[in-house]
Amino acid sequence: MSIPRIHPDTIEEVKEKSDIIDIISDQVVLRKKGKDYQGLCPFHEEKTPSFTVSPTKQLYYCFGCGAGGNIFKFLMELNKSSFAEVVLELAQRYQISVKTLETQQKQELERQLSLKEQLYEVLAIASNFYQHTLYQEQGSIALEYLRKKRNFNEETIQNFKLGYAPQGWETLYHYLVEVKRYPLDLVAQAGLIKPRQNNAGYYDNFRDRLMIPICDLQGKIIAFGGRSLGDEQPKYLNSPETLLFDKGKTLFCLDKAKNSISKEDKAVVVEGYFDAISLHSVGIKNVVASMGTALQKQQITYLARYTESKQIIFNFDTDKAGNEATKRAINEIENLVYSGQVNLRIIEIPEGKDADEYVKTDPNNINNYRNLVENAPLWIDWQIEQLLINKDLKNAIHFQQISQNMLKILQKIEDNNQKNHYLAKCGNLLSQGESRLTYLHTETLLNQLKKPQSIVKKGQNSFNTSAKKETNLLKEAEELLLIIYLHCPEYRDEIINKLEEKELEFSYSSHRYLWQKILELNIINEEKGENKLLEKIQYNLMENPEKIQTVNHLLVLNEPNQEKTYRAVLIMQSALAAMELVICQKYWRECLNKWQKTDQFTDTKNWEFYSQEIQKTKAKITELQQQRLFSNVDIIYHE
Ligand code: UTP
Ligand code: MN
Repeated sequence: MSIPRIHPDTIEEVKEKSDIIDIISDQVVLRKKGKDYQGLCPFHEEKTPSFTVSPTKQLYYCFGCGAGGNIFKFLMELNKSSFAEVVLELAQRYQISVKTLETQQKQELERQLSLKEQLYEVLAIASNFYQHTLYQEQGSIALEYLRKKRNFNEETIQNFKLGYAPQGWETLYHYLVEVKRYPLDLVAQAGLIKPRQNNAGYYDNFRDRLMIPICDLQGKIIAFGGRSLGDEQPKYLNSPETLLFDKGKTLFCLDKAKNSISKEDKAVVVEGYFDAISLHSVGIKNVVASMGTALQKQQITYLARYTESKQIIFNFDTDKAGNEATKRAINEIENLVYSGQVNLRIIEIPEGKDADEYVKTDPNNINNYRNLVENAPLWIDWQIEQLLINKDLKNAIHFQQISQNMLKILQKIEDNNQKNHYLAKCGNLLSQGESRLTYLHTETLLNQLKKPQSIVKKGQNSFNTSAKKETNLLKEAEELLLIIYLHCPEYRDEIINKLEEKELEFSYSSHRYLWQKILELNIINEEKGENKLLEKIQYNLMENPEKIQTVNHLLVLNEPNQEKTYRAVLIMQSALAAMELVICQKYWRECLNKWQKTDQFTDTKNWEFYSQEIQKTKAKITELQQQRLFSNVDIIYHE
């Protein structure tokens, strides 16, 4: 369809009636911030929201990438549409009749709009028919079922417009097409009748079923769910997707729940139609149903716009298949949660009941359910708790499984604070109440967490970079110590003693070579103003020009070296601490590695030994780092 030229009046009207918050919320989870809204910019990758929408100005602006404009610009950029396409899309959404400058296309558009109107109408008529039939003789079993089995009163039945689709193949067909004279085509497009296979007419889609209308946000019927009353399969038959009914965008009952959701600032999602209806009927009204399928991102963004704090609580079956079902249902929207755009919580009803059964078994359960909602754990916490169910942390295989699964969860968390929080939590759980082990387990998880990321960073893994940092640190420390030794005779005694005491050695070959020469000469004390050691070394080294190159910068008393001698004490202490630190860090890593490979139960002695060594060494490392912080001026070691 080519795009018609749109009448300026229509453009004005679209501008007036469309709401920027409404439109942008379809794509972006927005949170209210003062009088504006904020979310993650859809035009560039970001993790903290800098995308701002002003409802009063009807403008958006991203402080991150500079994208900005009005609602037309937003839709044009996002969908790569033309201006006219955007105007038409909005006109359709807000049901604004489009005046164009070309009559033919105008007619096509109006036909589309009026087709929707007609579909709404025929569905409303069908619903009246079903409601009426419920109170006829043929509906008595269904009515009985609603009253006795489901405990619904008249008010609930009316409120949800529950009905009954009679037995027989052409009852609704006859009523709508022959009595009410609706076009066959329209009734078929509404998903109410289906063509027979041999092309000989149509038959009713819903037969002998309890009928539950599904509404759009305005409360207009767009589809039906039909429950069989006997053993008929499927248990629930739903309308096919139509011009009005898009399953991925619809949540059952949102029209009735939306006010309550924004009042309570949280939304509960249950699985079944009857769970939602039951909860509403007992006064818990911030509830929608997912209609049994995996949730789509769009459903959740729709839902989330009614809650300021983006609290969404899932109440899914927790029977044996339940957890799997929960995972599947959440799969699509997982990254909304891990990126912190939605605060997802989980309710588990005792004894594996669904919400409908639960509130019906005992009147107290209505309040109990409210409490479950109030105290629902965050999904991430819940997932972690799930890992421990029916598992024994004292069993090495279970332990391994659990910590691997914890890692999988931790890896997905994007926010660093949140990640640290859960790292500590997992470490704590793994330590089983032995607080001295918490630190070890947390370190292990952290260590393992770093590994897969480093592969992504193309070979430069974090282990290597930290080893490289250590190498630089060590080289610099050794050099400084040699400079002080050579140029400040008054500290030679102390340096020799400290190196012996701490069993430290120079590790670079050029440094070792120089140190050997120093020890050979054995000149410790000097006359004031003299430096025999330095002179002799310079002289000796002249025979060996290759070596002298590698250490010459330590031998000359140039400006930087001289400057160092003024702060000899601090530099000496800092360098010694740095050398010791590098050794400790190496040892710590070795122990952690070995500890991870040691089985707590079959090799308890070693396991205990390494865990103690790890803790002792870590304490030492912390102490050394502090020493270096106090004394260090030249060597900055970034962790
Ligand atoms: P459930 O089978 O979990 O049962 O379906 P329920 O809702 O508790 O059903 P009752 O209480 O026995 O009546 C959960 C939801 O999954 C969808 C429906 O929306 C249902 O409410 N569903 C289920 C279908 O669409 N088709 C089916 O065949 C079954
Ligand atoms: Mn049920």
